[in-house]
Order: sequence, then C-alpha cells, then structure tokens
Amino acid sequence: MKSTDSFIEGLPKAELHLHLEGSLEPEQLFDFAGRNKVDIPFRSIDEVRAAYNFANLQDFLDIYYQGMNVLTTEQDFYDLTMAYCHRVHADNCRHVEVFFDPQGHTERDIPFQVVIDGIAGALQAAENELGMTSKLIMCFLRHLSEESALETLDLAEPCLDRIAGVGLDSSEVGHPPSKFINAFKRAGDMGLLRVAHAGEEGPPSYVWEALDLLKVDRIDHGNRALEDSKLIARLAETKMTLTVCPLSNTRLCVVNDMVDHPLKKMLDNGLRATINSDDPAYFGGYLNENYRAVADALALSKEDLTTLAVNSFLGSFLDPGDKAAHIKNVTDYAGEFGAID
Ligand code: ADE
Ligand code: ZN
Repeated sequence: MKSTDSFIEGLPKAELHLHLEGSLEPEQLFDFAGRNKVDIPFRSIDEVRAAYNFANLQDFLDIYYQGMNVLTTEQDFYDLTMAYCHRVHADNCRHVEVFFDPQGHTERDIPFQVVIDGIAGALQAAENELGMTSKLIMCFLRHLSEESALETLDLAEPCLDRIAGVGLDSSEVGHPPSKFINAFKRAGDMGLLRVAHAGEEGPPSYVWEALDLLKVDRIDHGNRALEDSKLIARLAETKMTLTVCPLSNTRLCVVNDMVDHPLKKMLDNGLRATINSDDPAYFGGYLNENYRAVADALALSKEDLTTLAVNSFLGSFLDPGDKAAHIKNVTDYAGEFGAID
C-alpha cells in the first residue's frame, strides 16, 4: 500500500456532504424492491451498474429518484442509514452530517415521520454502537416550488430536535437560490442551520445568491466559484466551507478528468475546502476513495490531506469544544506520521 493511502486510512475525518438516498447500493436496491414488492427496470446488478453512466447532473438525478422508490418502510430508512454508517466508520470517519430528501418520499405518500424515524433512529444507534456522531440536514428539492419547500418545513416542525439544518439540492441550472428566499428565511427563524448546493453546474451568481439571499453557513460543491475572483476573496475572507465531491464531479462531468479537479486550486486560494462522497453508491466510492482519487491525481501532500481533514471538522456543525478535540486527533495523528512538524 502506498504511504499516502495508509495515511488516508488512519486519518480521522468528518463527512459533510452525503445524500443518504445516494448511498443505496445496487444490492440494496434489489433487496428493498423484493421485500416491498416494488418493480424496478433492472434484472441484474450488472444492468444497474451499466445504467450508472451519466453525462450530467440530470442524467444522474433521473436514476437517483427512480432508485429511492424502493424505500418505503421505517426499517428501509434505518437499514440504509445504518449500512452507510458502518461503511464510512470503516474509513475512520468520526462525524457525519447527512442529507435526506423528504420530498422524494412524501411525494410518494411515504409519511415524513416514517422517513425521519428510520434515519434518526439509525444515526442514534450508530453513535451508541460506533461512537460516530452526526447531524441531519433536510434538503429541499429545487426543481419543486418554494410552496412545497414551505410545506416540508411545516412537516419538519415537530421533529426539530432531530434536524440540524436545511439544504438545497436537485437540478441546479434554472432553479437559482433566489427561488427559495422565504423558505430559507423561515428555516433560519426556526433556528435551523442553512446550506445549499451552488456552483456545481450553476454559475458563480448562484453562489453569491446562496451567500447573500439564503445566508448559508456552507456551500455544497462551489466549484464554479473559481471563475469569479471577487467571489474567491469573499469565500476566503469569511472562511466559508466548501463541501467538495471529487468522484461526483468526474462522474457527472462537472470536471473532465481528476487531474483537472480544482481542489488544489481551492486550497491554494485559501478556501476552506473539504472532501466528501455525495452519492457514493452511484459515483464509485465512499469517503476514503474520494481522498485517494484526488490525492493521486493532484499529487496532494500529507500536509494537504491533513488540512482537508482539519477543514472537515472546522466546517462541521459541531460545538467548538468538540471541533477542537477532533482537530487535535488529526494533528496528533499527522505528527506521529511525520506529515507535519
Ligand atoms: N442530489 C443528490 N446528489 C446531488 C448532487 N450532486 N447535486 C444536486 N442534487 C443532488
Ligand atoms: Zn450533493
């Protein structure tokens, strides 16, 4: 094993950009379809994998929404979440902040309560059994109306003890952050943190809108922010965290080849970039595979990797004391490895 790979394996880290429905592995797709008697248009795992060939975000989303149709019971959401927690815990991930898409389920008449009970139950079990902490972020689907987002906030209101924040995902271009000003304002008034996908396929103006109109605490992706020098300065000055997803970016053709990935440029510009897996079952890798892919392609140093792991805790929604404890673990580990002075 290369020394960078073993360094990545043992590096304590957090994951801040993971869609639970995007952790649905083809094997689970068949299991859940079978137990819930839901038809799927595939006969074999190979057929499923062959379909995971995307030219852009929308190609992926069409299959992603179709895949989540097999999730119907609280047990399904529990099992899906628990499987992800075990998988990422094996990558030495100590804390996760996970997205779910309630509208992808309530639109199919699956009650909000069923979804959240399953997911939050598993996150609690993962903390008890694995010592891995978590926060849950409820995303609004941006291709739907703001009214639907507001209705989803109503459904979430009785569950705010288990929801840390709101996010914005799905088809980006044509659905700017400005479409959701009222929903994000209300979420903020309810005490929820705010994040939004911006600058994945959409232009830098969408990142500005997420900052200025939605008042986000983090930007998900943010790749296209690099096209605007004033925006780079703003992100650097405000220490805004970017949750970057390397394998997602190549699989969705946001980046042509991993050697062209902007992650190193982000770090060199003083941006607080982090590495995440987005939808690992669809994009060919969980957290450490993302670290490895981008480290290989960009020849990242162990110091760069340490910075990325530190950033993952700095950008998390943990309390300052917990952040400091995790960061000490990262720097102690890197020091023992001789990666930093
Ligand atoms: N939903 C799941 N993954 C997504 C992504 N990468 N971008 C936007 N919406 C998503
Ligand atoms: Zn995402």
